Amino acid sequence: MPFSPPINIAVRAALKAGALAREHFDRRHELEVTMKGRNDPLTSADLAVEREILFHLKKAYPQYGILAEEKGGAVRADRPCWIVDPIDGTLNFLHGVPHFAISIALVENGTLRGGVVYDPMRDELFVAERGCGAFLNDRRIRVANAERLADTLVATGFPSRRPQWFERYQSAFAGFFAQVRDQRRQGAASLDLAYVAAGRYDGYWEIGLSQWDIAAGALLVLEAGGLISDFSGGPEFLQSGNVVASNNKLHAGMLAIISQAGLT
Ligand code: IPD
Ligand code: CA
Ligand code: CA
Repeated sequence: MPFSPPINIAVRAALKAGALAREHFDRRHELEVTMKGRNDPLTSADLAVEREILFHLKKAYPQYGILAEEKGGAVRADRPCWIVDPIDGTLNFLHGVPHFAISIALVENGTLRGGVVYDPMRDELFVAERGCGAFLNDRRIRVANAERLADTLVATGFPSRRPQWFERYQSAFAGFFAQVRDQRRQGAASLDLAYVAAGRYDGYWEIGLSQWDIAAGALLVLEAGGLISDFSGGPEFLQSGNVVASNNKLHAGMLAIISQAGLT
């Protein structure tokens, strides 16, 4: 699929960064680890991988803005901006669980233009560009077509850093549990969204995410024919960090469970 030049640069950055992440994963015992907050480790690999990504992005587009998880920055209204999560799934990475991803999005005028999510351990590259569709290793992907929650496998993320949400989260979890086939918590939000785009998961919901967890995966879902919203069904998912993604048909049912749990 011929993507536009900035998306090709994001792909290049993700592949290079993925190779570096794999090297660090193989030498995990050498990682330096500090804590950013409750259950929120930062490793020397997060920093090195982010440096690698920013090097490629800045070299090609020095004028673009950047919001990166570890280095900070901001999404600016006056120019295209990258939103970067160098390792999404750091806790998996640190514990030797081979499920994590590099996530890079491009946003312009408040609109997501491109999204790249790369799983370096499976060599799975998910790419979406607005208006061009969503792809996994060059093959077009589409969301699943389940119509009833009873036929679904749904992903979620636990709010393990935010105890104030445990109770209502558990109530929503129980609501889903009563209706779906099963739920998964794999620990990398960008891949949860990419899996919805690829039709592996029928839906996904999580509370309290950051923009870098969501931005690239959100465009994958949309370009794969799915829907992503905040907990009220509105478009503020990047701002609120509360995300419901689905194949469209399941969306109302998922929102109803979340609302019944008092999460809206
Ligand atoms: C985390 C992962 C996880 C989600 C957390 C995120 P990180 O990102 O996406 O699945 O549940 O809320 O913060 O910290 O590994 O980049
Ligand atoms: Ca993340
Ligand atoms: Ca991260």
